[in-house]
This record gives sequence, structure tokens and C-alpha cells, in this order.
Amino acid sequence: MNVPFGNMQVHYQAYKEQIDAAVARVLASGYYILGPELEKFEAEFAQFLGVKYVVGCASGTEAIYLALAAEDIGPGDEVLVVAHTAVPTISAISMTGATPVFVDIKASTYVMRESELEAKITPRTKMIVPVHLYGHMAEMEAIMKIASKHKIKVMEDVAQATGATYKGAIAGSIGDYGAFSFYPSKNLGAFGDGGAVSTNSEEKYKKLKMLRNYGQSKRYYHDTVGINSRLDEIQCAILSAQLPYVHEWNEKRSQIAAKYTEGLKDLVVTPVEVAGFKHVYHLYVIQTAYRDELQAYLLERGVQCLIHYPIPAHLQQAYQFLGYKPGSLPTTEHIVNRILSLPMFPEMTDDQVEQVIDGIKSFYKERSLSSDVALATTCAEGQPA
Ligand SMILES: Cc1ncc(COP(=O)(O)O)c(C=O)c1O
Repeated sequence: MNVPFGNMQVHYQAYKEQIDAAVARVLASGYYILGPELEKFEAEFAQFLGVKYVVGCASGTEAIYLALAAEDIGPGDEVLVVAHTAVPTISAISMTGATPVFVDIKASTYVMRESELEAKITPRTKMIVPVHLYGHMAEMEAIMKIASKHKIKVMEDVAQATGATYKGAIAGSIGDYGAFSFYPSKNLGAFGDGGAVSTNSEEKYKKLKMLRNYGQSKRYYHDTVGINSRLDEIQCAILSAQLPYVHEWNEKRSQIAAKYTEGLKDLVVTPVEVAGFKHVYHLYVIQTAYRDELQAYLLERGVQCLIHYPIPAHLQQAYQFLGYKPGSLPTTEHIVNRILSLPMFPEMTDDQVEQVIDGIKSFYKERSLSSDVALATTCAEGQPA
């Protein structure tokens, strides 16, 4: 049996009736852009998040861009962010002309190390962008405290953490903005590209609506310089149909994660879910000293694993102009050679989960490798969790 990394076909088949009905409704309506489905989804998603406003847009990348633009962030400004993220987090900052300033991550949860933030704040710092990577939120209370002390805005990158919580507050409801991606494989995914920005500010809500639609306040009246970044009616209808299932799917992800952890905790470093946080396991990421060999071994046995992400943003060719050298973000650089994302999607069967666990166990057994857990702990020594 093959175990793919994700499986959108199985997902579609499971929810075919609702999705087909949503698409058919829009096709028959004659409204395809900025219509009633968008208004409905924005209201539903705002309620889901417990925020006042949601503005749909064309992608997660543009959600980040639009929130930065809503704050007039541009050339000469600095944005504090992690390098261990999907590169689009950084592309969106570059799109404004602002400079991304990288902060290292925590070895335990892979999110922004808030203890390093203050040292990197300058008079040019305008925004902090914590990324809730893999589905585990950053330490928002501490980040918000630092931001308010220095009068800096905060945007949560929630692309990988729809439904995650921190001390009861849902991701995207704590910062000044939350930026969401509805890329198909996300915890709430469209059947195409999509994104959204959440905010509690009426002023910024109005500005975001203009920015996503050519800067128009009304048709052909352009109050600000905007772009075309809209969430189309078909995607909105599909998202509305799927939103009621998000918590249930996240629960399934958690159950799969618990099985993985139970089966693997003595062999590899398994994900940490800090007390008070709800991890939504967009990705289930282990650490092993034998990453590349293990990935190849599993693939030979039909198990597809991926690496999120093999090269951190500060070492990507595109960002060499920022001047970071190897060694500048020690924890980020330490973990990128060890991380491996195991298959994870809500429709995974018990047999598939078992196959992944058995594959990893037999890799360690066949090669007479001892547990990798102690090694990882040693390597991470001196790096605060
Ligand atoms: C953490 C993170 N931020 C931003 C993005 C960008 O989202 P999108 O692909 O919808 O533009 C992604 C998705 O790839 C992501 O995982």
C-alpha cells in the first residue's frame, strides 16, 4: 500500500456532495467575483475566529502583503520574522519593499524565539510576524507585550494553523492581523488558491477591502494604490461548505499525531505540544540524524515524506542580498538538516499510520541504529526551548 503525503482526491470524494452543490450554486448564480458567497464566508470565518472582520483575498502570500500594505509598510521599514517558514512569508514582506529581519526559532516548537525579539528592534521596526508553523502557535502573550511596549504591530501568519489555540484564544484573533492561506492542503483548504486577513479594526478592514480591489472605495474611485487580490465566489462557497468540519478534521489530525508519537517517541524526536497550546498538526515533523537516508528508505516502501523546509529563507539564493551568513541563526540551521514531515491528512487510515511507524522502526532496526532522541537532545543543548 502506498502512503501519499496528502490526498486531496480522497478528501474530495468524502465531501463530494457538499462541494459539488456549492460549486453548482455559484455557477448558476451568475456572480463570480465579490458577490454574496464572499460576504457569507467572511462573516462565517470572522465568527469562527471570534474577530470583527475578515477580508478574503487571493492567497496567503497576498494576505500577508495586504496587511503590511494596510500599515503603509514599505521601503526603509523593517519586519521581524523567522527564516524557518515557507518562503512566501518572506516574499510578501519583500513585495512591500520593506526589509525582513530574521529572528531565530525555538528548538522545541520551531516557532519564533520571542526572547530574541527586543535585541532586533530598531526605530525602523514596524511589524512582528510570528509564524504558527506546522500548526503550533508562537508565544503570543510575550510577543504582544513586546510589541505594545515598542508600539509595533503584530501579524500572525496562520497559514498552517487554522483552528489552533493558545490559552483558549484562536490563532489569528490575537495580533493586529491574522493572515490565512486556503491552499488546498491547508487545515481549511480551497480547491484552488485563496487567503484571508482577519482584524478587529474597522479602519483597517475598510482599507484592506480597498487594497484587494485596485484601491477602489467605490467603482472607478481609487483612494489608495491597490492590487487585484480577490477570493472568488466558487472558492468562498467551497470554504463555507467545509468550515463546519475544521475542528473535526483538526481532531483527526491530533489523533493521527498521537499514534505517531506513541509509536516513534523512543526512536526520533517527536513534536512538542506545549501546555496551554492546541497544536493542529498541519504537519507532523520529526527530527532524526538520518533524515535523508530515512526519507529514501520510506519512499522505497511507498511512504512519501517531505521536508518543510530544507533551506531557511536567509540562506536562499534570492535573499543573499540581505547579507546573512551561515551561522547567523543557529537553531534554524541546526534543525533544517534533521527535520522530516511524515504523511498527515485527516482521511489517513489506521493501516497507513501503522505502515509509516513500522517503516521507521524497521529502518532503525535493520541498521542497528540506537535511538536518535538522546542525540537530538545533546545537539539542542544550550538552545533554550
Ligand atoms: C507559513 C506560510 N505562510 C504563507 C504561505 C503562503 O500561502 P499561499 O500559498 O496561499 O500564498 C504558506 C503556504 O504555502 C505558508 O505555509
